[in-house]
Amino acid sequence: MSQRSASVRVPATSANLGPGFDSLGVALDWTADVTVTIADTPLPPPDGPIAGMAASAAAALYRFAGIELPGGLTASVETDMPVGRGLGTSATARVAGVLAADALLGAGHTPDELLPIATRLEGHGDNAVPAMFGGLCVVVNDEDELVHLSLTPPDDLRLALLIPEFSMPTHESRERLPDRLTRNQAVHNIGRAAMLVAAISEHRYDLLRTATGDVLHQPARAGLFPAMYQIFQAARDAGAFGVYLSGGGSTIAAFVDDAHAEDALGAMREAAAAHGLDAATRVCHLTATGAQLLNGAESGS
Ligand code: HSE
Repeated sequence: MSQRSASVRVPATSANLGPGFDSLGVALDWTADVTVTIADTPLPPPDGPIAGMAASAAAALYRFAGIELPGGLTASVETDMPVGRGLGTSATARVAGVLAADALLGAGHTPDELLPIATRLEGHGDNAVPAMFGGLCVVVNDEDELVHLSLTPPDDLRLALLIPEFSMPTHESRERLPDRLTRNQAVHNIGRAAMLVAAISEHRYDLLRTATGDVLHQPARAGLFPAMYQIFQAARDAGAFGVYLSGGGSTIAAFVDDAHAEDALGAMREAAAAHGLDAATRVCHLTATGAQLLNGAESGS
C-alpha cells in the first residue's frame, strides 16, 4: 500500500471581541496539529469531530481541484482544544484540512485561494481568517468575497479564558439574534468595533471596557447563558480591561495583562461556580502566527 501524509499546525481563534460580530477575530497561541493521510486503499475513518471536519475539508479541496479522491483519505489530530465552546475549532479543522490536502496534491494554491473553500464549509470568516493568517483580523464580506486585514497583536495583552463545561452550538445561538437594530444600536456597535481595533493598536487598554460593549449579539445569547453578564462583571472587578463572549459562546474571554490574568480567572471561576457552572480556564497570548505546514507529503508503506 502506498500512503502519504501532510501535517499542519493551526491556531484556535476567538471571534467577535464584543462589538465586532462576524467582523473581528484573533488567533491564539493554542494550536491543533492535524495530519491528513491518503492511500490507494481505504483507511480507518477519522476519530472525533475535529479530525472528521479536517478530512471533509481535505476531500472538498480534491473536488475543488477536480481531482479524483484517493482510495483512502483520513485525518488525525493532536490537540486539547474543545469543540462547541466558541474557540473556532471548526474553522481550525477546515483550514487544516484544505492546507494539508493542498500540500498532498502539490497544488500550490495561495492561502487566499484556499480560504473560500474552508469558509464555504465553515461559514465564519471571523474564525477562518485568523486561523489561516494569524493576527488580529478585520474581516468583511464584500459580494461573497472575504476582504480581510491582519494586524500584529501587541505582546503585552492576554486573553484569560473561562471555558464552561456546556457547549453553545453556534447555529442555535445565532437563531436567537435580532433581525433588526435601531440606528442607535448600530452606532453603538460601529463605534465600539472601531474603538476596539484602535485601542489595541495604540495600547490604550483602558478603553477596552467601553470598546468591548455590544448590543448586537451578546444580549440575545445571554438567554442561553444567564450567568454571562455576572461573570463579565467579576472579571472586570478583578482587573480585566474588557470582557466578551468568544464567538457564539460558551467561552468568556477577558482582555488582561499578566499581572491580572490569574485574578481574573479566579474571579470568573468563582462567579461561574456561584451559578453552579464548572469551567476550565486558560490564559492565551494573541499571536501573529497563522496556519503552518509542518511537513510535506511523507511517504510510507
Ligand atoms: N461571528 C460568529 C458568531 C462566530 O458569532 O456566530 C462563530 O464562532
